[in-house]
Amino acid sequence: MDVSGRKAFVTGGASGLGAATARALASSGAIVGIFDRDADKGRAIADDLGGQFFAVDVSDAASAEAAVNAAIGALGTPSVLVNCAGIGTAARIVGRDGPMPLDAFSRVINVNLVGSFNMMRLCAHAMSLAEPDENGQRGVVISTASVAAYEGQIGQAAYAASKGGIVSLTLPAAREFARFGIRVLAIAPGLFLTPLLEGLPPETQDGLAAAIPNPPRLGKPSEFADLVMAMVGNDYLNGEVVRLDGALRMQAK
Ligand SMILES: NC(=O)c1ccc[n+]([C@@H]2O[C@H](COP(=O)([O-])OP(=O)(O)OC[C@H]3O[C@@H](n4cnc5c(N)ncnc54)[C@H](O)[C@@H]3O)[C@@H](O)[C@H]2O)c1
Repeated sequence: MDVSGRKAFVTGGASGLGAATARALASSGAIVGIFDRDADKGRAIADDLGGQFFAVDVSDAASAEAAVNAAIGALGTPSVLVNCAGIGTAARIVGRDGPMPLDAFSRVINVNLVGSFNMMRLCAHAMSLAEPDENGQRGVVISTASVAAYEGQIGQAAYAASKGGIVSLTLPAAREFARFGIRVLAIAPGLFLTPLLEGLPPETQDGLAAAIPNPPRLGKPSEFADLVMAMVGNDYLNGEVVRLDGALRMQAK
């Protein structure tokens, strides 16, 4: 699908992988809607890209519905949804202070997994009502999993489970949306240099990078965005989760 002149919605677009993705989509001529809970950063990036910002809590049904409706009203029906909004926490299931609080687990599942599903259901419904392109395609939904879906470390129970859910959601959604001409994909990134890791001291960053076989460095957000663009552009890629990790396989801790 050629994104030029099409609408692309990016959640988590105010920062990191989402911001790089929004930038790449805009440079290919897409009209970008940035969806994030961080209004200051989200607005700044949307202004910079000639797009529009929509405040949202992706884990909340009413908030997402209002934001998607506002975006469709302002920009039009999206042909692309990229789910990048996400959070991570580190906690043992049984820690020094006893069992992990259940809401700490639920919160990560709600933002990462339920949030991605929430935006998918709303945007795919809108896409299903649009006119198909000359190849019968109406759109593509790309969500962000993680290598933690496959090799979750100690302390990543909630995060790994949320990302595993995104992996498992990809094929049934692709199968269901086939009749609409909507493709569904996911990317499982390894370790990327986004604000989360930028905050770590250089020696810690180097330690993380040392575990990555080739290239032996953290991923660049632009490399994530490049894969999004390749996925959007290739109509035959569907129902798949692609690892983007320099052959990293995370150890238990
Ligand atoms: N950076 C990495 O190394 C890495 C590796 C694997 C997977 N990921 C995943 O990639 C995605 C993006 O990560 P990043 O490193 O760019 O993180 P980031 O913190 O830089 O960006 C995440 C964005 O999501 C937004 N957000 C969080 N909760 C939200 C909510 N409930 N509603 C709306 N917006 C919300 C934040 O405001 C932020 O702008 C996440 O899903 C993360 O789990 C990142």
